[in-house]
Formats: sequence, structure tokens, C-alpha cells
Amino acid sequence: MARSLTILGATGSVGLATLDLVGAAGPDSYAITALTAHSRARELAELSLRFRPKFTAIADARQADVLEDALAGSGLRWGAGPQAVLEAASMQADWTMAAIVGAAGLAPTLEAVKRGGMVALANKEALVCAGELFIEHARKSGAVILPVDSEHNAIFQALGGVDATRVRRIILTASGGPFRLASLDVMAAATVRDAVAHPVWSMGAKISVDSATMMNKGLEVIEACHLFALSPEKVDVIVHPESIVHGLVEHVDGGLIAQMGMPDMRTPIAHALAWPHRVETSVSRLDLPALGRLTFEAPDPERFPALGLARAAFTAGGANPVILNAANEVAVDAFLNGHVGFLDIAAIVAESLERGEGIARGPLTDFDAVYAADAAARDLAGAFVRARARRGAGIAKGA
Ligand SMILES: NC(=O)c1ccc[n+]([C@@H]2O[C@H](COP(=O)([O-])OP(=O)(O)OC[C@H]3O[C@@H](n4cnc5c(N)ncnc54)[C@H](OP(=O)(O)O)[C@@H]3O)[C@@H](O)[C@H]2O)c1
Repeated sequence: MARSLTILGATGSVGLATLDLVGAAGPDSYAITALTAHSRARELAELSLRFRPKFTAIADARQADVLEDALAGSGLRWGAGPQAVLEAASMQADWTMAAIVGAAGLAPTLEAVKRGGMVALANKEALVCAGELFIEHARKSGAVILPVDSEHNAIFQALGGVDATRVRRIILTASGGPFRLASLDVMAAATVRDAVAHPVWSMGAKISVDSATMMNKGLEVIEACHLFALSPEKVDVIVHPESIVHGLVEHVDGGLIAQMGMPDMRTPIAHALAWPHRVETSVSRLDLPALGRLTFEAPDPERFPALGLARAAFTAGGANPVILNAANEVAVDAFLNGHVGFLDIAAIVAESLERGEGIARGPLTDFDAVYAADAAARDLAGAFVRARARRGAGIAKGA
């Protein structure tokens, strides 16, 4: 019987890669329950006309007319506004891809986790902001969380069923991004085009900038701690520019198991899509002799302070990871819109963590506390963005 799927964030990089696999497998393998997007109504409508979900949801209610026109006469049911996205997430489906970018993905991902079934988790921000709460809800509903991030999917595979708490450590690889070899001066003058030009992976704008600052790896360290119940000391990061080894598990006997593959998100997505089975993909195969050699180096904490900020925020606990994530989203958005420079991103996150004691007080016992901390951290980071924009510090040129 066809597996029923919902794709939250269907128009994004991960959402489209998922639909590419679904399209290739055909309707006998998968049937679409719901597709969602934020504001790209035309693209969403095209996908819906092709995959014929039971429900289509656009988060931005201002796009309702566009979606209505594009779906007119199709017989497809649709809705607009954040409630419609929640409705899509709460519909019964065997498998859900959680691929909305940023903290906006929290509430829909939570709906999917509460409903149970398999939740393929690309939205790392959900675990960063509310890891304990998500894991607790998954335990209650019986939802199976399948890691989609290539590094976490690699660890999941390399563990081979061994309890992660019994291994010596896990290692997440990082490509190093476009500024791996750049000087601080070059990074200070980086344009948006420079920052999103990832040397290996093709991804959405926000995660591409996160890769360039290495905040992406910082968020992934926190994500790994929650997914595999590990302390941050057991999660190492190593720079591997070829992005062929995605993650490694070091066992107590000294054995190191690595998961390798082409840097193509369709491989980890396919692993989650077919789990616990395997499915054919058209992803190019690794040609090891042609590759010749693989290189590894330690990350540079001076040029990439975001990694240390993420570790410190997780260790400090409470709302600190929420502040880290919210301030980063605000700062990345300001960078993408030309209001602050590239190096300002980590500086704004650091300032927000330093000055956010009032927000970080006390444990986050429910999602309302998470949303309140997120909103307060966005206000705080917004003030730092405005102050830097006024000073004209390091504005990205030629964005
Ligand atoms: N791209 C990768 O290779 C990759 C790898 C690992 C993990 N991830 C993670 O996967 C997630 C998605 O990344 P991506 O690169 O696919 O992002 P993306 O290309 O920017 O796509 C984001 C998706 O989320 C939707 N969206 C944005 N804001 C929303 C909102 N407020 N409410 C509802 N939907 C919203 C977008 O809709 P519109 O198109 O209408 O704006 C789009 O469908 C992120 O958390 C990222 O860290 C990505």
C-alpha cells in the first residue's frame, strides 16, 4: 500500500528534493496528504496540481487569491493562513517531512509529532529551540523522528542500532563553507552573493548563510545532542571540504564508522522516506578513485565564533538556545537584506546572548514559554541590528 506523506515546506530546497524522489517512485509507492508553503503560491499550486494532495496550505493569507485562482476547477481543497498550515500538519499521514525553515516550523512540526507516525526532521531549529519538549511529545505519541540533516542521518546510519550514549563520540563533518580559507578582512566585506555561494551543497538562502558563518554546524551540535541524547563534549566537529563523509561514530573499541555519499540531500531524504527499507535514487554514485583523497581539518574558532556560541548556549541551557536561534534568524535576515555585514551576524548573536539574561531565566517547561522567549529574543536582536545599521558597520556591499 502507498505510504501517505505530508510535506511541510514543499516549495523549499528540501521539500522539492523530497517531491523529486516521490515523483520518481510513482503513485504506487507514495500518496500525498498535504503540501504547505509560506508565500510562493504559484509554485505551491503547480506542485499540488501535479501531486494532487488532499489539502494544500499557504501560510501567508495575502496569497489566498493567487492560490485560489491557480487551483480553480481542480477540485483540490486548500486553505490560507498559519492555521491552515497547522491543519495540514495535523492530518493523518504515515510520514511527514518537516522542512519549514526557521522557528516558523516549530508549531507545525509539533502538530506532526503529536499526531504520531514518522516525522522526517529537516527543521533543525525545532530541536534547537525546544529539543526536550519535542522528544517528550514524540515519546508520548509514539512518533518516530528520522533525522534528515545529512550529518545526523549519517550518524543514525553509522550507529547501526547501537545506543548512542554507549559510543565514545560522534563527529559531524562541515564543508567549511565559502569562507573556509578567507581572511577576516575578506569576510568583513563579504556580499550576500559571496555568502550564499556554497562550494558544495545547493540549499535555501538562510541555511547557506548559516553554513558560511558555521552557525549551521553549531545548530547541528545542539540538534545531535537532542536526537542522540548526548552531552556536547561527545559531539565533535571536523571540517571536510569535499563533503563526502557526512558523519562518523567512534566506538569505545577505537573503531570509527563513517557514512559516505555524494553531497546530495536526496540520499538522506531517500533514507528517511523509505525507512526502514531502502529505495533506488538517481543520485550520482561516488567514484572513489576519481576522488583520489579526502581531507580533514580542525575548525577555526577565531574566524567562526558561531560554533562556540552554540555550544555555550546549549551548555547554559534554559532559553539560551532559543536566544541563539532567534538572534541568528534576525541577524541573517538583516544581512540578506543588506542592513548589516557578514561578521555582524555572529556579533549580534553574541550580544543577544550576553544581554538576554532576563529572557534566559528558568527552564522552558512548555511551548508558550518557548514562543515568549523567541519573541523577546527577536526584539532584543532587532535592537542590535538597528544600532549596527545606524553605525553603518560592515554593511554588505553589492548585495
Ligand atoms: N537545504 C538543505 O540542503 C538542508 C539540509 C539540511 C537541513 N535543512 C533544514 O531544512 C529546513 C528547510 O531548509 P531549506 O533549505 O529547504 O529552506 P528553503 O529552501 O528556504 O525553504 C523553506 C520552506 O519553508 C517555507 N516557509 C518559510 N517560512 C515559512 C513560514 N513562516 N510558515 C510556513 N512555511 C514557511 C517556505 O515557503 P515559501 O517557498 O513559500 O517561502 C519553503 O517551502 C531548514 O530548517 C534547514 O536548516 C536544509
